[in-house]
Amino acid sequence: MTAEELAAIHLKAMVVPKAWSAQTMQGFLDFPGAVLATSQAGFALGRVVVDEAELLTLAVDPDAQRQGQARRCLLDFEQMARDKGAARIFLEVAAPNVAARALYLQAGFGEGGVRRGYYRGTEGEPINAIVMSKTLIPA
Ligand SMILES: CC(C)(COP(=O)(O)OP(=O)(O)OC[C@H]1O[C@@H](n2cnc3c(N)ncnc32)[C@H](O)[C@@H]1OP(=O)(O)O)[C@@H](O)C(=O)NCCC(=O)NCCS
Repeated sequence: MTAEELAAIHLKAMVVPKAWSAQTMQGFLDFPGAVLATSQAGFALGRVVVDEAELLTLAVDPDAQRQGQARRCLLDFEQMARDKGAARIFLEVAAPNVAARALYLQAGFGEGGVRRGYYRGTEGEPINAIVMSKTLIPA
């Protein structure tokens, strides 16, 4: 998937935080250790630094949600991160994002700390982020 295709899915799917531009996507794709797992209409994007992976964002086109695409992207992301030497994955998710929190919990992530006011809502209101993590069992 190109940076433009990632940005197009993000624009349709994201509410908080705001969608990223193709330029921002390309910047993340250019990171050393970048990891991109894709499905037909979704993706998981992050990076590995030494033995830690960070899942930066994940989205599925609203027209193709609830078909297991995010679950598959997450599984592929985990495998790719493991292959690059990651022992643990971290992510931040907006506290009101029920769908994503359920997805991550189902995938074996645990909820850790809260970052107060980490995001801004559509009216500029502060929204807390939940830090989640998962230890990767070596394959
Ligand atoms: C979160 C998101 C990626 C889920 O994508 P998806 O492809 O629809 O998810 P899946 O079909 O793989 O669902 C896997 C599990 O996630 C949970 N889940 C997904 N959508 C859900 C919803 N709307 N409500 C509650 N749980 C949900 C369920 O546990 C689901 O398992 P089940 O279908 O067996 O019940 C999608 O809703 C999205 O793109 N949201 C906007 C972007 C976003 O918030 N990204 C997260 C950034 S941290």
